[in-house]
Amino acid sequence: MLDLSGWLDRASSPTLQQLTLRRPDDWHVHLRDGALLKAVAPATASQFGRAIVMPNLNPPITTPAAAQAYRQRILAALPAESRFQPLMTAYLTDASDGAAIARGFNEGVWAACKLYPANATTNSAAGVSSIEAITPVIAIMERIGMPLLIHGEVTDANIDIFDREAVFIENHLAPLLARHPGLKVVLEHITTIDAVEFVSGGPDNLAATITPHHLHINRNAMFAGGLRPDFYCLPVAKRELHRLALRAAATSGNPKFFLGTDSAPHQRSAKETACGCAGIFNAPYAIESYALVFEQEKALERLEGFASEFGARFYGLPLNSDKITLVREPQPVPKLLDFQGATGDGAGLVPFHAGETLPWRLLP
Ligand code: DOR
Ligand code: ZN
Repeated sequence: MLDLSGWLDRASSPTLQQLTLRRPDDWHVHLRDGALLKAVAPATASQFGRAIVMPNLNPPITTPAAAQAYRQRILAALPAESRFQPLMTAYLTDASDGAAIARGFNEGVWAACKLYPANATTNSAAGVSSIEAITPVIAIMERIGMPLLIHGEVTDANIDIFDREAVFIENHLAPLLARHPGLKVVLEHITTIDAVEFVSGGPDNLAATITPHHLHINRNAMFAGGLRPDFYCLPVAKRELHRLALRAAATSGNPKFFLGTDSAPHQRSAKETACGCAGIFNAPYAIESYALVFEQEKALERLEGFASEFGARFYGLPLNSDKITLVREPQPVPKLLDFQGATGDGAGLVPFHAGETLPWRLLP
């Protein structure tokens, strides 16, 4: 078992014992539906003030009515006193209607649109088969200031899976931004130095989210001593040089990079099988996980910007006014979290950092 709890004591002194921050937001999360929603939503709501909720349900969330109903189901899954605000997204398809999307945005139902290239990942079969073909929808979004959130990977099976993000940037994202210079774009869950450089060098209307897992693991984690499905997600973790570039970007203080967990729970039975699902469930310890990275990079003073300020400013939303406090206290992460009380083979959810001890704990 990896014990990270003594890390700072060796790294610097005097040791900071407590850290109070403006409450963070999660600008990319999968909350699922039904029993799984009930199991996972409280974890996100206990850490974050708001979250951009991914629409890749089955069927996907494509209409304002579906989004409003889903929003109600999310709120119903939370304790009555929760003040968490889910921010809903529209799932773009080849048939999306720009006027209807704009209406939902102007009425405050949608915070953004999500673009999944068709078949890029979980529940993306109904995604967009040609970005060029939805130019009229994107032109409307550009005009009304509606953010476009992009899963930035090509889907061509002939392109090496570790190259799919870089190829997407070159073949699709750069031309998209050239066609729509005013479009607000978030390149989601970036995994490469190519993405870091492209976003850093791009205009202010281009930003990126970074997950905790891509800051902690490189691709070796999936193959350490055997096949480790709990470290498989999409975009897949890359080489160490990419992880180091992501850590530098996240902790740089550059407001183009902000927090998005991409927490994507799947039950063990769906991960540990012949064709396991992509996704890492990091919601229960997300802010502690990010805090550890910032501490290791000696940049704890920059955590608040990344976690609680840059995303809200990009989306044009007010900052949260309440605070959270992290205390330096060893926090063992269970190997398995209960789900619906089920205990049989394949039940439960494996959290990111399972079996480790984190050095920070969020006060309730
Ligand atoms: O790993 C992932 N899981 N990446 C995605 O893009 C989707 C997500 C999911 O919904 O499970
Ligand atoms: Zn995601």
